[in-house]
Amino acid sequence: MSKLFETTTIKNLILPNRFVRSATWEGLAADDGAVTQRLIDVAVRLALGGVGLIISGHAYISREGQAGLWQLGVYSDELIPGLTEMTKAVHQRGGKIAMQLAHAGSKAASHLSGLDPIGPSTAEIGGSHIGKEMNKKDIEKVIQAFAAAALRAKRAGFDAIQIHGAHGYLVSQFLSPYFNRRTDEYGGSIQNRTRFVVELLEAVRKAVGSEFPVFIKLNSEDFLPNGLTVDEMISASEILEKAGMDSIEMSGGTFLSGKNYPSRQGKPGQGEHEAYYEAAARRCKKALKIPLMLVGGLRTFETAERLVLENVADYIAMCRPFIREPELVNRWKSGDRKPALCISDSGCFRPGFEGKGVHCVVEGRLTS
Ligand SMILES: Cc1cc2nc3c(=O)[nH]c(=O)nc-3n(C[C@H](O)[C@H](O)[C@H](O)COP(=O)(O)O)c2cc1C
Repeated sequence: MSKLFETTTIKNLILPNRFVRSATWEGLAADDGAVTQRLIDVAVRLALGGVGLIISGHAYISREGQAGLWQLGVYSDELIPGLTEMTKAVHQRGGKIAMQLAHAGSKAASHLSGLDPIGPSTAEIGGSHIGKEMNKKDIEKVIQAFAAAALRAKRAGFDAIQIHGAHGYLVSQFLSPYFNRRTDEYGGSIQNRTRFVVELLEAVRKAVGSEFPVFIKLNSEDFLPNGLTVDEMISASEILEKAGMDSIEMSGGTFLSGKNYPSRQGKPGQGEHEAYYEAAARRCKKALKIPLMLVGGLRTFETAERLVLENVADYIAMCRPFIREPELVNRWKSGDRKPALCISDSGCFRPGFEGKGVHCVVEGRLTS
């Protein structure tokens, strides 16, 4: 049997294979962030399709942290019943689901929330200076909001949580010298820039307890002038491992990184277009004892298997391939090892922004 189909455990979380659906905003939540039946249907399709661990779309932990339209929310207890429906539906099909907790920082959609964006520093985005620099009180408030959201996720039956620490959102902004220009204990050295997320992890731990799996998604690098580097990412990972993080998912890039945007476009499975962050993951894996998940351009069974066999990654995470083929894992398991059909053109975003829900425009149908 392929190592990809081994059963593994992270803390008390038993996973039937090494495939992870990387967090994916589906554009299917209600206007207030509540779970909808269509969102549940997507999760059910993924569970039935054999995905070992589904990670939800980024869920905003406080109103001022909302990134965009029809985004899942976890900022209020009132959202727990809908979230519980979603986890129940997944568990009934034998699946496992983690919730990605997010705050968009200075990238937040203030036109939706009516609240001013906040960040480690005022950020220069598209030529404008955006966001208020967070003071200590703001920092503490956001940390407590993450902790409250983590507890909500646990109460709603999620099997784990993942902190969104990648792609230029708030946690990533703190880690990145491009966004973080602070001169206090939260800025400067990578140890200082990691302080925010370490304190956040400590608060989350207090809320969910020592046995609940807590993960984070981080950038291998930002691909920005004066952005986070691979060396710094590895240092941050080591600090987080010591602080009690249970797994790290490696991604890369931000909304300002041009062609190195997290969802790169380009023909799949060909040279540099597959496994965007392999070299960084190989180094990071050596530095860590906790499992590493790798995302970004993974499209072939052979590459996925090689990465695990060569000890580059413990888990293979994918986003766009599962939008086109929620049943991809079962297809590969059944012996049909043709590459994922995804052509990585990111056309799937467009219907999401139009309110129709993210789906594969090549297939031309909703995958729910
Ligand atoms: C439609 C869409 C929505 C996404 N939503 C999220 C998200 O909510 N959180 C996140 O961390 N990454 C998100 N991403 C990025 C993916 O998780 C992933 O890091 C990236 O697409 C590279 O993986 P892939 O080549 O397998 O698609 C999204 C990507 C797409 C295409």
